[in-house]
Amino acid sequence: MILPSILSTSHLHLRDKLEPLRGLAKMIHVDIEDGVFVPNLSFGPKMIEEIYKEFGFELDVHYMVNDPQRFIDIFKSIPHSWVSYHLETGLHPDDLDFPKGARVGVAVNPDTRDIPPDIIASVDFIVLMGVYPGFGGAKFEESTYDSVRRLNDIRNIDGHEFDILVDGGVGKNNILELKRCGADHFVAGSGVFKDDPKKSFLELNDICDRDV
Ligand code: DX5
Ligand code: ZN
Repeated sequence: MILPSILSTSHLHLRDKLEPLRGLAKMIHVDIEDGVFVPNLSFGPKMIEEIYKEFGFELDVHYMVNDPQRFIDIFKSIPHSWVSYHLETGLHPDDLDFPKGARVGVAVNPDTRDIPPDIIASVDFIVLMGVYPGFGGAKFEESTYDSVRRLNDIRNIDGHEFDILVDGGVGKNNILELKRCGADHFVAGSGVFKDDPKKSFLELNDICDRDV
């Protein structure tokens, strides 16, 4: 699945940017930032709730924050389909009270790729950041290919059931290779919104659905 990320597209023109994806994208990716874990701030609950009510996209909420519970509680009125927090917080999924019914994921930065087995066993998906987090349009880290391969090997050997997401720096130039390495889902901000959102989304989606 392609999850369009709205962080770096124009917030003023968000409605126009999302309109072409109405009925096409099943889920969008929402980055929540605290200005501490990452040097940026993004959205509050009112904005996200209004987007949800207007478009009905399911939400994949990515908490790039030091204190995920505090922010999960702030956003609790919003239906989360998927939710992820960062391993770098030092927290175990069992430490957190996630929104009911949400699939739970753990996200890791490009230089934190060793994920303890008990954490892998406790989540539904793992988010490999393809960029150092904080902003859209950041440089894709080439080491991500190997990270996807290694995680896919763990999955094949151990038979763990989890999905592999790549978040950041994903576009037409690398999505096929990432899929070949074993990634299942792709978060794309600039890759969708930089040019024509509908055309870009459909192109990425088409590659994502190919058999590799
Ligand atoms: C990066 C965010 C991503 C970001 C992706 O810190 O977590 O979700 O919005 O944007 P692109 O695809 O432009 O790297
Ligand atoms: Zn994200």
